Amino acid sequence: MATRNILKDGDPTLLKRSREVVNFDNRLHELLDDMAETMHEAEGAGLAAPQVGVLRRVAVVATPDGIVELVNPEIIQTDGEQEGAEGCLSFPGLYGLVKRPERATVRAKDRHGKEFTLEGEGIVARAFCHEIDHLDGIVFTERAERILTPEELQEMFEEREDSSEE
Ligand code: NI
Repeated sequence: MATRNILKDGDPTLLKRSREVVNFDNRLHELLDDMAETMHEAEGAGLAAPQVGVLRRVAVVATPDGIVELVNPEIIQTDGEQEGAEGCLSFPGLYGLVKRPERATVRAKDRHGKEFTLEGEGIVARAFCHEIDHLDGIVFTERAERILTPEELQEMFEEREDSSEE
């Protein structure tokens, strides 16, 4: 395992659509291992492959039950709404006010190509939506109603301890 360099705002790769994974091989496993390590080291809640310069539909999301690996993920159901501070490892220090569903069910494949579905709530639902947006070349600043000021952020972090960088 190794950490990879996280591309930052302004890199055109972040705005490109990623392609489906067709080979569930060692190269994919190495990518997933590296992404988990990179996310962990950066203390992020999620990371998508284009953020490490790989235009493939792959993401990792931190959940209370551990890291979930998502290959070719799609949101198949959403419910409710949440509005809160959202950030991104590609936009250090920047947070926006973003509306997301309160619950989101994702259908994806695991590293061996086996399909599964998983429901996420709160911050996990937010991360599913955020990471899948990355795979379509959409960054959170496009979804944000506005960028939060440091004072607003401070207030929101005090109210809710679940804001994080994805
Ligand atoms: Ni992100």
